[in-house]
Amino acid sequence: MVRQKDGGVKAFYNVCQHRGNPLVSEPKGTVLRRFVCKYHSWAFLPDGTLNFAPDKEDFPEGNPCNKVTLEEVRCETFAGFIWVNMDPDCISLQKFLGPIWDDWEARNVDTWQRTMANSMWLPCNWKVVLDNFNESYHVPTVHQGATPDTDRKAIRGNIDTYFKETRFDLSDEGHNRMVMKGGFGVGQTDVDGNIIDPLASELRYWEIDPSDFKGRP
Ligand code: FES
Repeated sequence: MVRQKDGGVKAFYNVCQHRGNPLVSEPKGTVLRRFVCKYHSWAFLPDGTLNFAPDKEDFPEGNPCNKVTLEEVRCETFAGFIWVNMDPDCISLQKFLGPIWDDWEARNVDTWQRTMANSMWLPCNWKVVLDNFNESYHVPTVHQGATPDTDRKAIRGNIDTYFKETRFDLSDEGHNRMVMKGGFGVGQTDVDGNIIDPLASELRYWEIDPSDFKGRP
């Protein structure tokens, strides 16, 4: 993916159009002006156009410069993310996202700041995890025993673990979402009321001392 002069982003297969050598080997970085292939020095501009080839007049088909371009991949920018689709005939991102597009646009998602990121390796299909996050039926069984009694009362007070106010939507495009009444989640304090991770880390990120909120997460 390459930033363009107009601020947009283009995506290309990392394949030199001469003999198929990988054009870049670094996962990210910058180039001064052109991507130069390390095999025979063909050089491509950030918009994918071939700009230089050694001995260009010797090619039987004629000078390839300004004719040959890198192979582009469908790429759109929306909500602060860069979206890539390997299918050149795919529908537009807006059509694919359907109502999600309007929701995210209304909430100005591109201005949001990430405060925490978790990565984890689970030996299962990733859809199993998403499936779990789209139902709260398991919450009273799985999470209740793991939290102190004070937390459990608060959970009952702030989060509807019995679906009374939780809404599940499925769009025609196939996306789904769960809308749950706000509140703090399970396992935020230890038995003495001290705030524990991940809430403690989030508070420290915002330069708030978790101990100031002991017993009242
Ligand atoms: S393969 Fe890239 S210049 Fe030849």
